[in-house]
Amino acid sequence: MVAPAEGWQDIAAVEALPSGQYLEAVLEEADVVVFNVGGLFHAIENLCTHDGGRLSGGRLEGRQIICPRHGARFDVTTGAACTPPAYQDVHVFPVRVQDGRIQLRDDRWD
Ligand code: FES
Repeated sequence: MVAPAEGWQDIAAVEALPSGQYLEAVLEEADVVVFNVGGLFHAIENLCTHDGGRLSGGRLEGRQIICPRHGARFDVTTGAACTPPAYQDVHVFPVRVQDGRIQLRDDRWD
């Protein structure tokens, strides 16, 4: 386990998240979903901007997660709301890989 530094929180080993999959994590007070898209890691808040549903449980298609409640799509690399019924983007968290570990930082109050 890598000690947290500069606000980075250790989430999982790189091997635990293969390409095309995602995992849920808790980052301070935020529920987060971490994705591996083609070998690059991305993290967004696990909160659909349409009606507050959790995005985890939805299907990942390429760069887009499909909300399991009403089908809104979000680009997990940018947080952009891509299709109705969601019109607001979701928050994207900084991600880094350090010593083979995926780490996230909560930058919402920077
Ligand atoms: S809560 Fe996600 S599309 Fe409605």
